[in-house]
Amino acid sequence: MRIPHELQLAIEHETGKVERSLLAQASAQLTRQYQAADFASPVITTAAQRAAYLAVRFPATYAATWHVLSEGRRLAAETEIGSVLDLGAGPGTALFAAAEIFPALQRATLIESDAALTNLGRGMAAQSPLSAVRNASWLRHDLRSGLPHSQHDLTIISYTLGELPAAAAELLVRQAWSCTKEFLVLIEPGTMRGFGVVHTARSLLIASGGHVLAPCPHDAACPLAGSDHDWCHFAQRVERTSQHRVLKGGSLGYEDEKFSYVVAARNSVPSARARILRHPRKLSGHVQLTLCGPRGIEQQTVTRSQKSIYKLARQAQWGDAWEGPEQVP
Ligand SMILES: C[S@@+](CC[C@H](N)C(=O)[O-])C[C@H]1O[C@@H](n2cnc3c(N)ncnc32)[C@H](O)[C@@H]1O
Repeated sequence: MRIPHELQLAIEHETGKVERSLLAQASAQLTRQYQAADFASPVITTAAQRAAYLAVRFPATYAATWHVLSEGRRLAAETEIGSVLDLGAGPGTALFAAAEIFPALQRATLIESDAALTNLGRGMAAQSPLSAVRNASWLRHDLRSGLPHSQHDLTIISYTLGELPAAAAELLVRQAWSCTKEFLVLIEPGTMRGFGVVHTARSLLIASGGHVLAPCPHDAACPLAGSDHDWCHFAQRVERTSQHRVLKGGSLGYEDEKFSYVVAARNSVPSARARILRHPRKLSGHVQLTLCGPRGIEQQTVTRSQKSIYKLARQAQWGDAWEGPEQVP
């Protein structure tokens, strides 16, 4: 995928205000900090770091959020989303994605502790062709001091929960859930640690009466929890601009953003039959799928003779829902 052109222009406008060597330095530091999951102190504190976030992280977090929200909408197409609450909003990444995906969106509230990042996001939002984005309310507030008592169809916490201490993250998930009328979406980096954060929140939400809409096709215990070498995560490919390529020191025209996520629904909505957990192995005359289903991890082989689902299996991608029937042992 490619981030919308007007967002790309807004990023170039903002990053153009920072001297190139400072931007490169801040981008390298930000990349290192995220790779090391080093959240002991605030990650984004200077103008150069804010610009670097826009240049090297925003496209990836936008892409992951877009992927997750698209899957939520696909599975619950009849649920109208008119309002969104974005917690730890940064420059409004999740709002930009949500407004693309939910055309009925009218009201957006963003909460973020960094005033300069809020100003930056507000400036970008002012250029948006979408009125829900232009008219969004941006609140400067520390998520550790509770949330305003308001209700929203959709609540999103993207790439923020893992920056909070565990007790504060748990409290935030409880409070976010009580603000949510339809769906609560949590997204974290697709690392073992990010998965751990999402998995803890998933258990909490199920215990609070929530239903998992995605990625899990069930509310049962996660079959990957507790593994010391495997974790549930997915990937979204996003095109890199030439500036992005230079700052990342890479030659590829794209990057694959790995993420873990959960979409919890207030009301039970049919989820997928199963979720594809690995790149399908597309071999001659058959496709091997690793699936997560209500009964745990399933290995399924779809052969050319299974005409109705063979075509689906050839097109299937890691992270997709799988609607083919369960394999009879
Ligand atoms: C990695 S950024 C994610 C931004 C955005 N959600 C995205 O997906 O691109 C994490 C954001 O959470 C904000 N944040 C972290 N701790 C916070 C807190 N206690 N209260 C409010 N915002 C917080 C940071 O300032 C930062 O903007």
